[in-house]
This record gives sequence, structure tokens and C-alpha cells, in this order.
Amino acid sequence: MSNFTNQIAFITGAGSGIGRATALAFSTSGAKVVVAEINEANGCETVNQIQQLGGDALFVRCDVADPAQIESAIRQTVDTYGRLDIAINNAGIGGKFGRFIDQTPDDFDQIMAINVGGVFYGMQAQIRQMLLQQQTDHSAPDGTPAGTGHSAGRIHAGGRIVNISSIAGVRGMPMGAPYSASKHAVIGLTKTAALEYARQNIRINAVCPVYTHSAMVDELINTAPGMEERMRRMIPMGRFGEPDEIAQTILWLCADENAFCTGQAIQLDGGMTAG
Ligand SMILES: NC(=O)c1ccc[n+]([C@@H]2O[C@H](COP(=O)([O-])OP(=O)(O)OC[C@H]3O[C@@H](n4cnc5c(N)ncnc54)[C@H](O)[C@@H]3O)[C@@H](O)[C@H]2O)c1
Repeated sequence: MSNFTNQIAFITGAGSGIGRATALAFSTSGAKVVVAEINEANGCETVNQIQQLGGDALFVRCDVADPAQIESAIRQTVDTYGRLDIAINNAGIGGKFGRFIDQTPDDFDQIMAINVGGVFYGMQAQIRQMLLQQQTDHSAPDGTPAGTGHSAGRIHAGGRIVNISSIAGVRGMPMGAPYSASKHAVIGLTKTAALEYARQNIRINAVCPVYTHSAMVDELINTAPGMEERMRRMIPMGRFGEPDEIAQTILWLCADENAFCTGQAIQLDGGMTAG
């Protein structure tokens, strides 16, 4: 299991589903966790669960569609814990399930503001902070500058970011055009930022899950009778993903053992895109 002792992990949308599972997994691996969430009750519940397990966590109310709130959430993270090592841009919405021609400008704008704007402005604030830390961190004992990743024990000095895309970010999704477009955009942002900050050892990757048990998927299941079975049949493994399975891949992407991996969009789909 990866060891993130005393590292600071900032996670958006960590009040539910994949975000909460990721927050708990980082905490049990030693990280201090910032739960950035628009839903205060659910965000505080995640913090409560972490504390009951003996971990350290902070709730920050944050609407990721508002760049000022993301800036403020990163500032609160640094004010509380002194730095930012890991950021997981997970908050997202499914939007309206409906035909391409029936999606309204409001449907489109809302999903873009949260699913794309949240990741874009989130990464801007996170990368700025990670770069700032490289200027102020001391050099490694062998003289290697912080952030180069060449010195044992300092391989994570640059920073790590994982963005949550979707299998709808690599394939079309009938009845979900704005969602699919937003998740394709997340991969574009991930790859571009990864290229721009590779030399600073800020590793930036994405995960692309297929249907995974969460409030979002329950909403989709409830749109029509028989929907759950139809969704399940699309997945070669014959089942949905579990939030903790997605969380474990996110941790693996952030681990020092995985230090050469950046700019990737990892598909977690029970085999769907293999065919
Ligand atoms: N569950 C799936 O099948 C699945 C598949 C692929 C991708 N994803 C993606 O995984 C991520 C997590 O989804 P989930 O399935 O855990 O859903 P979820 O609904 O359980 O969790 C989403 C969380 O994001 C929060 N959130 C929503 N809008 C926000 C905003 N503006 N600011 C801050 N927080 C906000 C919600 O309050 C909620 O806690 C999303 O980006 C989603 O698109 C989910």
C-alpha cells in the first residue's frame, strides 16, 4: 500500500461517492485531507469519518464553479497545513439525461462551469501553489533542487494532480452530450498541463471510470425502468465499479513508486473499451 504520511491531499467533491472513498483512502495511507465540497453536511460527514478513524481532515466549503472560491480553498489548505502535495479534482455533476437537441443553453453552461471550469481553475490554483513551494523548499541533501524528482525521498516534491474524467471522456454518450463534452475537455486540460509542468515534476493524470456506485449513478438508474440492467450489460465484467476501486487507482497514480507517469488518462471500465 502507498504511504502518504504527512502529505497534504486536497479533494473536491469529497462529500460523497468516489471523492469520499478517495478521501478515506488517502487518510488511511497517512495523508492529511482537505475536503472541498459544496454540500456542507456531506463534507463534514467525510471529515467526521476520517477523524473517527484517527485521521486529520479539514472541511472547506467550496463551489468549484467559482474560481474565487477555489483560490480561497487552496489558501485555507496552506494556512492550515502549510503546503499542498496532492490535488484531486473530482467534483462533478451528471447534468440532464436527454436528447442532443433538447439540451438547453443553461444545461450546457452549468455542466461546463462545474465539470470543466472546476478542473481548469482548480488546477490553476493548485499548480501556482506547487510552483511556489518549489521556490521556497530547501534543496535535497545531495544538492538536487527540490522538484526535480531525482533525489531519494524527495521524488514527490513537485506535486501530483489527478482529475476525474469518465469513460464518457473517451467515447460518445448518447443522451449525455454536455457531460461527454465536459469529460473530453478534462482529458485535454490534463494532457496540456502535464506537458507544461513535466519539468517541474508536477505529475498530472486523469482517471476515466465507467458506471460506479454513487449518488450520480443512482440518478441515472432512476431515469427509466430496466436502466440498471442495460447499463450493466455494457460492461464486460458484468458489474459496476466500486468507489474504493477508483480511489485505489487514484492513490497509485499519486504514489512515488509511479514517478514516471504523467499526462495519462487511465480507463477503469471493467473492459468496456477493450472491445
Ligand atoms: N459514478 C460514476 O459512474 C462516474 C463515472 C465516471 C465519472 N464519474 C465522475 O466522478 C466524479 C465523482 O462523482 P460521483 O459518482 O462520486 O458522484 P457523487 O454525486 O456521489 O459525488 C459528487 C460530489 O461532487 C459535489 N459537487 C457537485 N457540484 C459541486 C460544486 N460545484 N462544487 C463542489 N462540489 C460539488 C457533490 O456535492 C458531491 O458530493 C464526478 O466528476 C463524476 O463525473 C463518476
